[in-house]
Amino acid sequence: MNNRLEVKIGDLTFKNPILLASGTIGFGEEISKFYDLSILGGIVTKSITLKPRKGNPPPRIWEAYSGILNSIGLENPGIEAFLCEEIEKLQRIDTNIIVSIAGESESEYLDLIKSLNDTKVSAIELNVSCPNVDKGGMHFGVDKDSLISLVKKVLKISKKPVWVKLSPEAKDIVDIVLGLKNVGVNVVVLFNTFLGMAIDWKNRKPAFKRIFAGYSGPAVKPLVLRYVWEVYEKTGITIIGCGGIINYTDVLEYILAGASLVEVGTANFINPMIGKELVEDLYRNIEDESIQDLIGFAHKRKEDNIL
Ligand SMILES: Cc1cc2nc3c(=O)[nH]c(=O)nc-3n(C[C@H](O)[C@H](O)[C@H](O)COP(=O)(O)O)c2cc1C
Repeated sequence: MNNRLEVKIGDLTFKNPILLASGTIGFGEEISKFYDLSILGGIVTKSITLKPRKGNPPPRIWEAYSGILNSIGLENPGIEAFLCEEIEKLQRIDTNIIVSIAGESESEYLDLIKSLNDTKVSAIELNVSCPNVDKGGMHFGVDKDSLISLVKKVLKISKKPVWVKLSPEAKDIVDIVLGLKNVGVNVVVLFNTFLGMAIDWKNRKPAFKRIFAGYSGPAVKPLVLRYVWEVYEKTGITIIGCGGIINYTDVLEYILAGASLVEVGTANFINPMIGKELVEDLYRNIEDESIQDLIGFAHKRKEDNIL
């Protein structure tokens, strides 16, 4: 069914451009009760850390207009349990498995890479952009020097393709991406969540214990799309678009702006069937064209805009 939806990135082939985003489907088990996940281009796991993490105290999710705020705090069972209990189940799904990792220090990231080097996963996504933890996380992603230093070491030892998932909170995204490209990064994921907050007005206090939380969902799509456009135009790097996708026209906007693949996050909570529906809707609506040909296509047409 998928030929015209197929996308190639390096040596990896994706049946279609739809991936489910880290942290929004765990290790796929719950969603796999709704549909066969092998229909997807890929699945990105919940971010794994070296040691198990309990995550942040409640509340962890807060509804906002056109999106949600989350402060999960990277709850996960740790790399050892992931390798013993989860990875085999994931590999039975006939799709690309991308493992997201998050460290508190460079050495933690490197240990995580080593643990995954001899597995069969398709790629590793470096989460350097989580806004909900004290150490590591977004601190790496918003500081160009720390990020480049980390990534250089990671690329030296990784046997897997490495995707770098950035934070929209960094000051100069294009500059960071150019720096990453310079040291050999081929793929960036734009973006993790934006920093936001909510006030629990009944109790007259901030809703979250950590005050700020990660904001995602439909409201962020135009903001992320702008960066996908700009990063594509100014760097030419392979981009994975992530932010606010809820239907197939959102996917096409990302592709036309320059994304090769997309990741879908918050929408999984609204509609657990979303991944399957996006693949089917894309297939129905792309008849004589291929996704691969549409990547960045709107850039060729921008001179047609009559203002
Ligand atoms: C509840 C929740 C948990 C998340 N956990 C992670 C995570 O563990 N690692 C990560 O890289 N991103 C995490 N994210 C960010 C998403 O992967 C995605 O980048 C973000 O939500 C933007 O996409 P969306 O607007 O489609 O949700 C999480 C998002 C949500 C809503």
